[in-house]
Order: sequence, then C-alpha cells, then structure tokens
Amino acid sequence: MGDETLKSQESRLEIIVLAAGQGSRMRSSKPKVLHLLAGRALLDHVFDTARSLNPDAIHVVVGHGAGAVKETLDTGDVSFHHQDQQLGTGHAVGCALPSCHPEATVLVLFGDVPLMSRATLLRLLEQVSQGPAMLAAHLDDPRGYGRVLRDGAGNFSAVVEDGDAGHDQRAIKEINTGVLAARAGLLTDLLNAVNNDNAQGEYYLPDTLALAVEGGTTVSIVVTEDPLEICGINDRGQLEALERALQRRLADALLNAGVALADRQRVDVRGDLQCGSDVEIDVNVVFEGRVVLGDGVRVGPNCLVKDAVIGAGTDIQAFCHIEGASIGTGCRIGPYARLRPGTRLAETARIGNFVETKNAVLGPGSKANHLAYLGDTQIGAKSNVGAGTITCNYDGVDKHPTRLGDGVFVGSNSTLVAPVTVGDHTFVAAGSVVTDDIPEESLAVGRARQRNISGWKPPGRRED
Ligand code: UD1
Ligand code: MG
Repeated sequence: MGDETLKSQESRLEIIVLAAGQGSRMRSSKPKVLHLLAGRALLDHVFDTARSLNPDAIHVVVGHGAGAVKETLDTGDVSFHHQDQQLGTGHAVGCALPSCHPEATVLVLFGDVPLMSRATLLRLLEQVSQGPAMLAAHLDDPRGYGRVLRDGAGNFSAVVEDGDAGHDQRAIKEINTGVLAARAGLLTDLLNAVNNDNAQGEYYLPDTLALAVEGGTTVSIVVTEDPLEICGINDRGQLEALERALQRRLADALLNAGVALADRQRVDVRGDLQCGSDVEIDVNVVFEGRVVLGDGVRVGPNCLVKDAVIGAGTDIQAFCHIEGASIGTGCRIGPYARLRPGTRLAETARIGNFVETKNAVLGPGSKANHLAYLGDTQIGAKSNVGAGTITCNYDGVDKHPTRLGDGVFVGSNSTLVAPVTVGDHTFVAAGSVVTDDIPEESLAVGRARQRNISGWKPPGRRED
C-alpha cells in the first residue's frame, strides 16, 4: 500500500452500532432499539448521529430483531452483522470488526443510547491519533455502570463492571458511557486477548482498554457533562424518563425561541416543529412528523397535529386532529375537527366542529362549519357547506370526486353522490340527495315533497 493510500485510510471512519441485546426488560415483543423516543426509533436516533459524522461505513450488530430492524428503518447505508449468541459487548464488536479497514478509526456506539451528541463524539475522535479514547461521565448514582479506574497520576487504567466491582470501586462516580474509539487494527489485536473470566461470563469491550494500557498504549478519557446523552434504555421506566427529559428540553428551546407555551410540561414534539413569531400553544398538544406553524398561529388545548403546514394567523381550536394537511392563512379550524391527509385549505377557510375532511381542497373563504364529511372534494371560493352534508365518495370499490364551484350554497343534510359536479353560484336545497351534475346559477332540489295529512291522530288518541 502506498503512503497516500495509507494516509487516506487513517482518516477513514467506520462506526459500529451494537444492537444485538434482547432488551428483555422492556417486556415487549418489539426489539428494544425499535421503541420510540420523541417519535423515532432509538436506533434511528443513533443512525442520525452516526450519519452526522459523515463516516465511510456504518455497521450494526444485530441479534434476534434483525428482520424487524431492516423492515422498519431506512438502512440503505448500513451493513448488518449477525451476532447469534450475545456473548458480550467485546464479542459483538468482534462480529463487525473484520469488515473494517485495519487503518480506519472505529467508533463504537450503543443502539440503546439514543441521544449521544455529534459534538461530544467529535471531541472523542480528536483523541484517537494518540491511542484508544473512551467517553466517561460523572453520575451521582453510578449503579449499574462500569466504573472508570485511574492510576495515581490520574491516567486511565481500567473499567470495572458493576457486578465485578469491590465495595470501594462501587463508590466511584466516574462511569464508562460505553462509547469508545480506536484504530481497527489495534482494537482487533486487543479483542483477541480479552477473556470472559468475569461475573457475567462475557467478553467485555472495555477490557480492551485495560489491555492497551498494560501494553504501554495511552488511553484518553473524554468526559461529557450532559446527563441525557449518556442515558441508556433498558426498561420502559427509563424510556419514559428520557422521553420526559427530552421533551422538557425541546419545550425549553421553544420558549427560548419565543413560542408561548401554556405549560412546558404539557406539549410533546415527536418530530420536527418549526414556529414563526408569536405562536401560542395551549396544553396537551402533540406534534408529530414535520409541522410548520406560521406567525401568530394559535393551537388550542388537546390537539394532535401531524405533518402539517399551518399559515399565519390561523386559529386551531380545541380537540382538533390534523394530519397531512396544508392550511392557509387566517383560517379557523375546530373545535373538534378532523383534517385527514390531502386536506388543503386556502386563506380564511373555515372547518368547524365534527367536520371530517380527506383529500379535500377548499378555496378562499369557503366554509364547512358543522357535522360534515368532505372526501375527494374540490370546492371553489366562498362556498358554504351546510350542517350534515356528506360526500358519498366511495361506492365500495372505487373513490369518486365531488366538485363544487365558487359561491355554492349546500343546504343542510344534503348528500352529494360522487362523481358529481356542482356549478358556480348554485343552491342545493336542504335534505337533497344530489346524483346529477348541477349547472351554474341554479337551484337543485333532490328530495320527496312534503305531504301534510290533515286530521291525523297519534295511536293513543284514536277513538276506535
Ligand atoms: C455496558 C458497559 C459498561 C457501561 C455501560 C454504559 C460492557 C461490558 N459494559 O454495560 O461499562 O457502563 O454499558 O451503558 O461493555 N450488546 C450486543 N451484544 C452483546 C451484548 C451487548 O450487541 O453480546 C449491545 C446491547 O444491545 C447494547 C450494548 O451492547 O446496545 C450494551 O450492552 P449492555 O448489556 O446494555 O451493557 P451494560 O451492562 O449496560
Ligand atoms: Mg446497557
């Protein structure tokens, strides 16, 4: 290998993500790394961070849940390595290491530690030219973690696992986060020398670091101060606690950015939320996927907003369920409205209580204020859909469109049987069943005539 190739391989970064553990403490049929934190799989968070470092390769070591991981996550750029038996973190790294270039820097991440930050990992990677580097943290309650042992000069000497630690060692508050980086070739040599002579009968990855020191190689310790980024998830209690802590952090960021939250403890962001200025969010609002709220948008209490863009000045009143919708400026939605995917509202449109829309386009100023279903529907400007109007868009096999022009007035309790087109400035009489197209500027009456039967008496008042 020429000098140049060698040099380029030295800057090569390969990331190994360990995710073969069963996660039995979650008591779930789902693999642990697929459980959601802020709306995304734990492993997805780790892949995101890994990708942010622009590595040359991402390896993931998986066990039983491999199929589910492949099916659920976007893993086109990830190579999978199977660890059939979980013999320890050292053994797990050994499953992927033969695929890494010996001169590459290997960074080991855990699939169940979702919030590790790019900045901290960059600090760790800076040390690798000197020798292996490990990430440590100080915890008030270090129980369960491996403790960092330093020599008299304060240099790294070993990690002792909780189960193997003596009384004095258990009192140490500096812990191993599990994240480490080293040259692949060195790590391979060190792993070959690791044995499983310990409390758990496992091949411990951190033992490679002690072996490095014994062989005269310095191990750098990088310390992180952020308590969230080192949190590992083993059970549902820890997942809930990390979710709450992360949501609190996201809420604080929204407040700092000028968003008026009624209660920072009662808003959940499970995805990406962008807010303009003077946005107000009331209690118990959940945002999912990508949501954009324009300037001055108000979201009332108890709403779910998913994958939606909401224009400036729009007022979302209490108890709305909005998904896959694009809402213009100055609209009023709810209370109790359900906007389903494909809903597009132009400026100043109104959707009121108990109205469901799906694949429905409303022009400027159009309204459906009460109790209606608008599916596969296009409505022009300034039309009014009365209470109880239903578009019959589905014949049991296919979906059909309903088209309403501008300035249409649909009387209450009308049924529009699609496919049907209602021309501009038409008026549909209340209670009509509309099966035929209506030309513009006309009145459609599609109902039986009222008959009054004089002298009729109810059964109790008959004389016979
Ligand atoms: C590990 C560290 C400990 C550290 C702690 C930080 C070891 C021996 N101990 O302990 O020093 O303080 O993390 O959270 O490394 N895994 C596999 N295959 C295996 C075993 C584990 O893929 O055979 C994966 C797990 O899925 C998990 C990760 O490795 O993602 C860590 O394993 P875990 O059993 O949780 O290690 P800890 O006991 O927490
Ligand atoms: Mg763990």
